[in-house]
Amino acid sequence: MSEPARGSDRRRSGEGDRERTERAGLGDDVEVIVVSNRQPYRHRWGDDGIEVDRPTGGLTAGLDDVVRRIDGSWIAWGDGDADAEVVDDDDRVSVPPEASDGYPLRRVWLTGEQVDGYYYGFSNRVLWPVCHGTLSRVRSEGGYWDAYRSVNERFADAAADRADREDVIWLQDYHLGLVPQLLASRVPESVLVAHFWHIPWPDWDTFRACPHGAELLRGLVGNDLFVVHTERYRQHFFNCVEAALPRATVDRSAGRVFHRDGVTTVEAHPLGVDTERIPELSTDDGADERWRRLRAQYDIDEDVSVGVGVDRLDYTKGIPERIAAIERLLETRPEWQGEFTFVQIGSESRSRIPAYREVQTEVVEAVNRVNARFRTDDWRPVVYTTDRLADRELYTLYRNADLGVVSPVRDGMNLVAQEYVAAQADGDGVLVLSRQAGVHDLVGDDAVSITPQAPDEFAAALADALAMSDRERRVRMASLLDSCRAFDIDRWIDDVLGGVARLREDGGAGR
Ligand code: G6P
Repeated sequence: MSEPARGSDRRRSGEGDRERTERAGLGDDVEVIVVSNRQPYRHRWGDDGIEVDRPTGGLTAGLDDVVRRIDGSWIAWGDGDADAEVVDDDDRVSVPPEASDGYPLRRVWLTGEQVDGYYYGFSNRVLWPVCHGTLSRVRSEGGYWDAYRSVNERFADAAADRADREDVIWLQDYHLGLVPQLLASRVPESVLVAHFWHIPWPDWDTFRACPHGAELLRGLVGNDLFVVHTERYRQHFFNCVEAALPRATVDRSAGRVFHRDGVTTVEAHPLGVDTERIPELSTDDGADERWRRLRAQYDIDEDVSVGVGVDRLDYTKGIPERIAAIERLLETRPEWQGEFTFVQIGSESRSRIPAYREVQTEVVEAVNRVNARFRTDDWRPVVYTTDRLADRELYTLYRNADLGVVSPVRDGMNLVAQEYVAAQADGDGVLVLSRQAGVHDLVGDDAVSITPQAPDEFAAALADALAMSDRERRVRMASLLDSCRAFDIDRWIDDVLGGVARLREDGGAGR
């Protein structure tokens, strides 16, 4: 496996296209080192030897292309059972696997005990439910916090190992909350540390329930730049800092937190999707044939209206609520029986946590219940699958679905909603969207808004969306497309890296 040169070696050899880092004003000598828990590619033993798969979830899918384009590098947990077989002596492998212009992925190895306490423990049984406001799901066992800290030290060591001069360490998400503070003693001040928080930042009244919350905040203000999706999350973050860190000062107009060890700039930049590539894939030459095959595969009659939902099987995504609303629709508006098929794609996630196993069961039970009640010999109301569709297939399904239904009970942003919109090359789909998704702040008025826990209102909204005139669909979708284009992935990279570049111009790291 050939390994791309370390950033500075590349710089010396003149390789690599750093167009975007240059455009953001960071200069061509800077490497952006992305650090996340989840890796973009995983090697596993399959029937025919080592296979590569791509984990589900917006974070890795969105960032893979970014890292490639900015000629960066990536550090993440190597959780695949064949991951160790393909790395070099420095635990690195070039990805995407077949690409000649790949980037280095450095894998961090964790013990089973660390994974239990850090990933299945503090990250996903404490921070995830706290940030999504589902406090009854929070479970903090002894050992979780220590594991979180020790794994954050591992990541900080790996990042420090890679970074030099004016490089940028770009941390991702809630698994790495202590890394910024831990980096202070590990990297030179000229290295800038930025962090994007992909999930909601909750209000103080919720966050105060977080065990070790103040320590986590102290970790995060170790960043030079801390970025959330929306202005509301940013204000919540400031409120939490003011309440939990009495010695820190928040200057809201400047968007900065002043604390013992320096200054942290806090910005809001919503994550978006690739609004050029998605419609290309949803309309290419094979698109009609693919749609025909998908319909055959999932038994979708040619004449029915189609709705689609795509989610990780997570209790925050509101999937049982969605199926219940479809049931209510068929109950109260029987004219849709035989005329509407809903395709739900679910991907397995964090199954060692009981709440995740429960939601998997709940979804299957809800689908079986609705199908048993309403199905006929030649029509099934809900098609449920855990198949992983390739991008082209998924975008073709989005394009042809009359409704995209995104109904989380809480979601930091939600990229599925944006992908559904971006795939609407014909301009006539309708987005049915929960008010509790971050993306609603960007596009609310043009979607059909719902509250997932209100089945009557949700069912009425589905009926309105299905019956919407062609003209209204097109007007709304054109406006949704404008919003998604205005906040696409390129804009996000430019905004976040631009924020880093401004800090550098203003005199470098605040630590
Ligand atoms: C969310 C989180 C990501 C995470 C993804 C998939 O989008 O914000 O950090 O990678 O879910 O979850 P998993 O636990 O499989 O990484």
